Amino acid sequence: MPRQFFVGGNFKMNPASREQKRSLAAILNEATIDSSVEVVVSPPAIYLLPLKEILRKDIKIAAQNCYFKPNGAFTGEISPAMLKDSEIPYVILGHSERRTLFHETSEFIATKTRASLDAGLSVILCVGETLAEREANKTAEVVQSQLKPVVEILKEEDWSKIVVAYEPVWAIGTGKVATSAQAQEAHADIRAFLKSAVSPAVAEQTRIIYGGSVSAKNAKELGSQADVDGFLVGGASLKPEFIDIINVNK
Ligand code: G3P
Repeated sequence: MPRQFFVGGNFKMNPASREQKRSLAAILNEATIDSSVEVVVSPPAIYLLPLKEILRKDIKIAAQNCYFKPNGAFTGEISPAMLKDSEIPYVILGHSERRTLFHETSEFIATKTRASLDAGLSVILCVGETLAEREANKTAEVVQSQLKPVVEILKEEDWSKIVVAYEPVWAIGTGKVATSAQAQEAHADIRAFLKSAVSPAVAEQTRIIYGGSVSAKNAKELGSQADVDGFLVGGASLKPEFIDIINVNK
């Protein structure tokens, strides 16, 4: 079965007001979008349910993070069980901003991935190297070391609920997008790793999406690469341009 194209919008800590959140929803609600694409948007936690209320039902919602415990004395956290109970189907885990600014390790991210799957969520799992790591020719090694704890903690059947987002840190929010060749090479490496570390079937079926300065201008070429199964879009997901990215194959 061909892999369904996936476009996610990671709003990060935006929009800055409820009014802006309504405008964003209006853009999405009024657009004609390619029905063959799985579209997921990820607002800050405080807007998850209000956005879900007003958003068209063919666009899914993702949380930007969660903890691994179901409930308890963990101030500031939300749990996979709470997301499931609120009918939020996806969670983004391992974003480089969480790895860097909030010191999340790959092991911690793997634990949260396990807990999210156990609660019945799907996971957008982010990986990616820094510029220094790329320049030291360590891209594949770094990405594999980020994936390894997840591979170790998941069963083969869990992978149908995982979308891997390859987001080179140097391309995030910089306007410096990976070339289509760089993206294809990194995605092919991830697929080859999944083939050897999990199984050929998982490698074939798992969607590997690209994130990092995706725009309406560069989406077509990136999206036409054999191992690029869609995008995780940051800045451009807050603009009408997001619709053009979703519809890139139309
Ligand atoms: O998760 C999406 C992301 O980190 C890319 O952000 O703004 O470069 O599209 P941006």
